[in-house]
Amino acid sequence: MTRAKPLLALRGVHHHFGRVQVLQGVDLEVHAGEVLALIGPNGAGKSTLFDVISGRVRPSAGQVWLQGRRVDGAPPHELRRLGLARGFQGSRLFDRLSVDEHLRLAMVAHQGLAQARWWHRDASPQGLQAAADRLLESLGLAGLGESLAATLGPSQRRRLELALLLAAPATLLLLDEPTAGMAPAETAAFVSGLRRWSQGRTVLMVEHDMDVVFGLADRVAVLAEGRLLSVGRPEAVRQDAQVRQAYLGVFEGLPGKTHAQEPRC
Ligand SMILES: Nc1ncnc2c1ncn2[C@@H]1O[C@H](COP(=O)(O)OP(=O)(O)OP(=O)(O)O)[C@@H](O)[C@H]1O
Ligand SMILES: [Mg+2]
Repeated sequence: MTRAKPLLALRGVHHHFGRVQVLQGVDLEVHAGEVLALIGPNGAGKSTLFDVISGRVRPSAGQVWLQGRRVDGAPPHELRRLGLARGFQGSRLFDRLSVDEHLRLAMVAHQGLAQARWWHRDASPQGLQAAADRLLESLGLAGLGESLAATLGPSQRRRLELALLLAAPATLLLLDEPTAGMAPAETAAFVSGLRRWSQGRTVLMVEHDMDVVFGLADRVAVLAEGRLLSVGRPEAVRQDAQVRQAYLGVFEGLPGKTHAQEPRC
Protein backbone atom coordinates (compact mmCIF):
# COMPACT_ATOMS: atom_id res chain seq x y z
CA MET A 1 0.00 0.00 0.00
CA THR A 2 1.40 3.44 -0.87
CA ARG A 3 1.22 6.03 1.85
CA ALA A 4 -0.29 9.46 1.13
CA LYS A 5 2.23 12.25 0.65
CA PRO A 6 3.03 13.99 3.93
CA LEU A 7 1.43 17.37 4.55
CA LEU A 8 4.76 18.64 5.87
CA ALA A 9 8.18 17.14 5.25
CA LEU A 10 11.56 18.21 6.62
CA ARG A 11 14.58 16.85 4.80
CA GLY A 12 18.02 17.15 6.35
CA VAL A 13 17.29 20.45 8.10
CA HIS A 14 20.31 22.08 9.71
CA HIS A 15 20.52 25.42 11.40
CA HIS A 16 23.26 27.22 13.22
CA PHE A 17 23.39 30.54 15.02
CA GLY A 18 26.99 31.63 14.58
CA ARG A 19 29.05 28.69 15.71
CA VAL A 20 26.23 27.07 17.64
CA GLN A 21 24.70 24.15 15.74
CA VAL A 22 21.07 24.12 16.83
CA LEU A 23 19.50 21.76 14.28
CA GLN A 24 21.63 18.94 12.98
CA GLY A 25 19.95 17.10 10.12
CA VAL A 26 16.28 16.84 11.06
CA ASP A 27 14.13 14.55 8.87
CA LEU A 28 10.47 14.51 9.81
CA GLU A 29 7.16 13.87 8.06
CA VAL A 30 3.83 15.10 9.40
CA HIS A 31 0.74 13.51 7.90
CA ALA A 32 -2.63 15.13 7.28
CA GLY A 33 -4.98 14.79 10.23
CA GLU A 34 -2.46 13.66 12.83
CA VAL A 35 -1.42 15.25 16.11
CA LEU A 36 2.34 14.98 16.41
CA ALA A 37 3.96 16.05 19.68
CA LEU A 38 7.52 17.33 19.52
CA ILE A 39 9.22 16.85 22.86
CA GLY A 40 12.76 17.37 24.08
CA PRO A 41 14.79 19.04 26.80
CA ASN A 42 15.13 22.82 27.09
CA GLY A 43 17.38 24.16 24.36
CA ALA A 44 16.93 21.09 22.13
CA GLY A 45 15.94 23.27 19.18
CA LYS A 46 12.16 22.78 19.16
CA SER A 47 11.20 26.45 18.80
CA THR A 48 13.96 26.96 16.26
CA LEU A 49 12.50 24.10 14.24
CA PHE A 50 9.12 25.89 14.38
CA ASP A 51 10.87 29.07 13.21
CA VAL A 52 12.23 27.16 10.23
CA ILE A 53 8.90 25.53 9.39
CA SER A 54 6.97 28.80 9.68
CA GLY A 55 9.41 30.80 7.57
CA ARG A 56 10.86 33.02 10.31
CA VAL A 57 14.25 31.42 9.91
CA ARG A 58 15.80 30.16 6.68
CA PRO A 59 17.58 26.89 7.49
CA SER A 60 21.35 26.80 6.99
CA ALA A 61 20.81 23.62 4.96
CA GLY A 62 18.03 21.19 4.10
CA GLN A 63 14.53 21.46 2.72
CA VAL A 64 11.01 22.09 3.97
CA TRP A 65 8.05 20.83 1.93
CA LEU A 66 4.45 21.85 2.57
CA GLN A 67 1.65 20.20 0.61
CA GLY A 68 4.16 19.05 -1.98
CA ARG A 69 5.74 22.51 -2.46
CA ARG A 70 9.24 23.37 -1.41
CA VAL A 71 8.87 26.28 1.01
CA ASP A 72 12.14 26.77 2.90
CA GLY A 73 12.93 30.47 2.55
CA ALA A 74 9.30 31.41 1.87
CA PRO A 75 8.12 34.28 4.11
CA PRO A 76 5.70 33.62 6.99
CA HIS A 77 2.77 35.46 5.37
CA GLU A 78 3.02 33.25 2.28
CA LEU A 79 3.01 30.11 4.43
CA ARG A 80 0.05 31.49 6.36
CA ARG A 81 -1.86 31.73 3.09
CA LEU A 82 -1.05 28.07 2.50
CA GLY A 83 -2.81 27.26 5.78
CA LEU A 84 0.15 27.08 8.17
CA ALA A 85 -0.77 28.81 11.45
CA ARG A 86 1.97 29.10 14.05
CA GLY A 87 1.48 29.89 17.72
CA PHE A 88 4.35 31.15 19.84
CA GLN A 89 5.90 30.04 23.09
CA GLY A 90 4.73 32.53 25.70
CA SER A 91 1.99 35.07 25.30
CA ARG A 92 1.98 37.58 22.46
CA LEU A 93 -1.29 39.36 23.20
CA PHE A 94 -1.69 43.11 23.45
CA ASP A 95 -2.87 43.74 27.01
CA ARG A 96 -4.73 46.93 26.12
CA LEU A 97 -6.69 45.46 23.22
CA SER A 98 -9.97 43.64 23.75
CA VAL A 99 -10.61 40.06 22.70
CA ASP A 100 -12.76 41.25 19.77
CA GLU A 101 -10.11 43.73 18.67
CA HIS A 102 -7.54 40.95 18.57
CA LEU A 103 -9.85 38.79 16.48
CA ARG A 104 -10.80 41.57 14.09
CA LEU A 105 -7.14 42.36 13.50
CA ALA A 106 -6.37 38.71 12.78
CA MET A 107 -9.28 38.38 10.38
CA VAL A 108 -8.66 41.65 8.60
CA ALA A 109 -4.97 40.89 8.25
CA HIS A 110 -5.80 37.63 6.52
CA GLN A 111 -8.67 38.80 4.40
CA GLY A 112 -6.45 41.49 2.96
CA LEU A 113 -8.80 44.42 3.38
CA ALA A 114 -5.92 46.60 2.31
CA GLN A 115 -6.27 44.91 -1.05
CA ALA A 116 -9.78 46.35 -1.36
CA ARG A 117 -11.71 43.21 -0.62
CA TRP A 118 -13.80 45.11 1.90
CA TRP A 119 -17.02 44.76 -0.08
CA HIS A 120 -17.03 41.01 0.48
CA ARG A 121 -19.99 40.20 2.74
CA ASP A 122 -17.94 38.28 5.33
CA ALA A 123 -15.45 41.13 5.59
CA SER A 124 -18.09 43.69 6.60
CA PRO A 125 -17.93 44.78 10.25
CA GLN A 126 -21.08 42.73 10.95
CA GLY A 127 -19.69 39.71 9.14
CA LEU A 128 -16.42 39.91 11.05
CA GLN A 129 -18.22 40.28 14.37
CA ALA A 130 -20.48 37.31 13.68
CA ALA A 131 -17.47 35.19 12.74
CA ALA A 132 -15.61 36.36 15.86
CA ASP A 133 -18.60 35.49 18.06
CA ARG A 134 -18.84 31.99 16.57
CA LEU A 135 -15.15 31.42 17.13
CA LEU A 136 -15.26 32.64 20.73
CA GLU A 137 -18.23 30.45 21.50
CA SER A 138 -16.56 27.37 20.05
CA LEU A 139 -13.51 27.98 22.24
CA GLY A 140 -15.46 28.55 25.44
CA LEU A 141 -14.86 32.32 25.41
CA ALA A 142 -18.43 33.46 24.69
CA GLY A 143 -19.25 36.84 26.24
CA LEU A 144 -15.62 37.88 26.64
CA GLY A 145 -15.41 39.86 23.40
CA GLU A 146 -15.15 43.22 25.14
CA SER A 147 -12.70 42.08 27.83
CA LEU A 148 -9.18 43.45 27.64
CA ALA A 149 -6.53 40.80 27.13
CA ALA A 150 -4.89 41.99 30.38
CA THR A 151 -7.89 40.72 32.34
CA LEU A 152 -7.80 37.15 30.96
CA GLY A 153 -6.50 34.17 32.93
CA PRO A 154 -3.78 31.86 31.54
CA SER A 155 -6.21 29.38 29.99
CA GLN A 156 -8.33 32.14 28.45
CA ARG A 157 -5.21 33.76 26.99
CA ARG A 158 -4.16 30.48 25.41
CA ARG A 159 -7.65 29.97 24.00
CA LEU A 160 -7.62 33.46 22.55
CA GLU A 161 -4.25 32.76 20.96
CA LEU A 162 -5.73 29.63 19.44
CA ALA A 163 -8.74 31.63 18.24
CA LEU A 164 -6.34 34.01 16.49
CA LEU A 165 -4.78 31.06 14.67
CA LEU A 166 -8.23 29.79 13.69
CA ALA A 167 -9.44 33.23 12.60
CA ALA A 168 -8.19 32.41 9.12
CA PRO A 169 -8.20 29.05 7.33
CA ALA A 170 -5.63 26.82 9.01
CA THR A 171 -4.84 23.30 7.91
CA LEU A 172 -1.62 22.91 9.91
CA LEU A 173 -1.36 24.27 13.45
CA LEU A 174 2.05 24.66 15.08
CA LEU A 175 1.53 25.08 18.82
CA ASP A 176 4.53 25.84 21.03
CA GLU A 177 3.82 24.80 24.62
CA PRO A 178 0.11 25.63 24.46
CA THR A 179 -0.60 24.52 28.04
CA ALA A 180 2.33 26.32 29.70
CA GLY A 181 1.25 28.27 32.77
CA MET A 182 -2.10 26.51 33.14
CA ALA A 183 -3.36 24.87 36.31
CA PRO A 184 -3.98 21.09 35.97
CA ALA A 185 -7.77 21.48 35.66
CA GLU A 186 -7.34 24.14 32.98
CA THR A 187 -4.91 21.91 31.13
CA ALA A 188 -7.39 19.03 31.15
CA ALA A 189 -10.16 21.27 29.78
CA PHE A 190 -7.83 22.72 27.16
CA VAL A 191 -6.77 19.25 26.02
CA SER A 192 -10.31 18.00 25.64
CA GLY A 193 -11.14 21.21 23.75
CA LEU A 194 -8.10 20.84 21.53
CA ARG A 195 -9.33 17.43 20.42
CA ARG A 196 -12.45 19.13 19.08
CA TRP A 197 -10.82 22.30 17.77
CA SER A 198 -8.23 20.38 15.83
CA GLN A 199 -10.78 18.15 14.05
CA GLY A 200 -10.00 18.11 10.35
CA ARG A 201 -6.65 19.80 10.96
CA THR A 202 -3.10 18.66 11.45
CA VAL A 203 -1.31 19.63 14.64
CA LEU A 204 2.40 19.75 15.40
CA MET A 205 2.84 20.73 19.01
CA VAL A 206 5.74 21.27 21.37
CA GLU A 207 4.70 20.14 24.81
CA HIS A 208 6.46 19.50 28.09
CA ASP A 209 3.51 18.03 29.97
CA MET A 210 3.72 14.28 29.40
CA ASP A 211 0.08 13.73 30.36
CA VAL A 212 -0.89 16.06 27.52
CA VAL A 213 1.54 14.39 25.13
CA PHE A 214 0.37 10.87 25.85
CA GLY A 215 -3.29 11.89 26.06
CA LEU A 216 -3.39 13.72 22.75
CA ALA A 217 -0.65 12.74 20.34
CA ASP A 218 -0.97 10.17 17.58
CA ARG A 219 2.82 10.19 17.28
CA VAL A 220 5.68 11.63 19.28
CA ALA A 221 9.00 12.97 18.00
CA VAL A 222 11.88 13.43 20.43
CA LEU A 223 14.46 16.11 19.71
CA ALA A 224 17.69 16.35 21.70
CA GLU A 225 20.61 18.61 20.84
CA GLY A 226 19.16 19.32 17.42
CA ARG A 227 18.74 15.67 16.38
CA LEU A 228 15.64 13.51 16.34
CA LEU A 229 16.20 10.61 18.70
CA SER A 230 12.96 8.82 17.99
CA VAL A 231 9.68 9.25 16.10
CA GLY A 232 6.73 6.92 16.46
CA ARG A 233 3.65 5.89 18.36
CA PRO A 234 3.68 7.21 21.92
CA GLU A 235 4.06 3.75 23.47
CA ALA A 236 6.97 2.84 21.20
CA VAL A 237 8.75 6.12 21.92
CA ARG A 238 8.24 5.65 25.63
CA GLN A 239 9.98 2.28 25.42
CA ASP A 240 12.88 3.58 23.33
CA ALA A 241 16.09 3.05 25.28
CA GLN A 242 17.81 6.18 23.91
CA VAL A 243 14.80 8.31 24.80
CA ARG A 244 14.60 6.87 28.27
CA GLN A 245 18.24 7.68 28.79
CA ALA A 246 17.83 11.26 27.49
CA TYR A 247 14.85 11.82 29.72
CA LEU A 248 16.27 10.19 32.83
CA GLY A 249 13.21 8.28 33.88
CA VAL A 250 10.53 10.84 33.23
CA PHE A 251 8.31 8.21 31.63
CA GLU A 252 8.38 6.04 34.73
CA GLY A 253 5.05 5.77 36.48
CA LEU A 254 2.98 7.75 33.97
CA PRO A 255 0.42 9.15 34.51
CA GLY A 256 1.41 11.15 37.55
CA LYS A 257 4.87 12.44 36.82
CA THR A 258 4.12 15.12 34.34
CA HIS A 259 6.96 17.41 33.40
CA ALA A 260 9.91 16.37 31.28
CA GLN A 261 11.56 19.71 31.94
CA GLU A 262 10.08 22.76 33.54
CA PRO A 263 8.95 25.15 30.80
CA ARG A 264 10.99 28.32 30.65
CA CYS A 265 8.10 30.76 30.44
N1 LIG B 1 18.22 33.87 17.70
C1 LIG B 1 19.11 33.08 18.32
N2 LIG B 1 20.42 33.40 18.34
C2 LIG B 1 21.33 32.60 18.94
N3 LIG B 1 21.02 31.44 19.56
C3 LIG B 1 19.72 31.09 19.59
C4 LIG B 1 18.71 31.88 18.97
N4 LIG B 1 17.52 31.26 19.15
C5 LIG B 1 17.77 30.14 19.85
N5 LIG B 1 19.09 30.03 20.11
C6 LIG B 1 19.75 28.93 20.82
O1 LIG B 1 19.39 27.75 20.14
C7 LIG B 1 19.20 26.68 21.06
C8 LIG B 1 17.83 26.09 20.86
O2 LIG B 1 16.85 27.03 21.27
P1 LIG B 1 15.30 26.74 21.13
O3 LIG B 1 14.60 27.94 21.67
O4 LIG B 1 15.00 26.33 19.75
O5 LIG B 1 15.12 25.50 22.10
P2 LIG B 1 13.78 24.80 22.63
O6 LIG B 1 13.93 23.34 22.40
O7 LIG B 1 12.59 25.46 22.07
O8 LIG B 1 13.89 25.06 24.20
P3 LIG B 1 12.73 25.32 25.31
O9 LIG B 1 12.16 23.98 25.67
O10 LIG B 1 13.48 25.92 26.44
O11 LIG B 1 11.73 26.26 24.71
C9 LIG B 1 19.43 27.26 22.46
O12 LIG B 1 20.76 26.98 22.83
C10 LIG B 1 19.23 28.75 22.25
O13 LIG B 1 19.97 29.49 23.17
MG1 LIG C 1 11.03 26.54 22.85
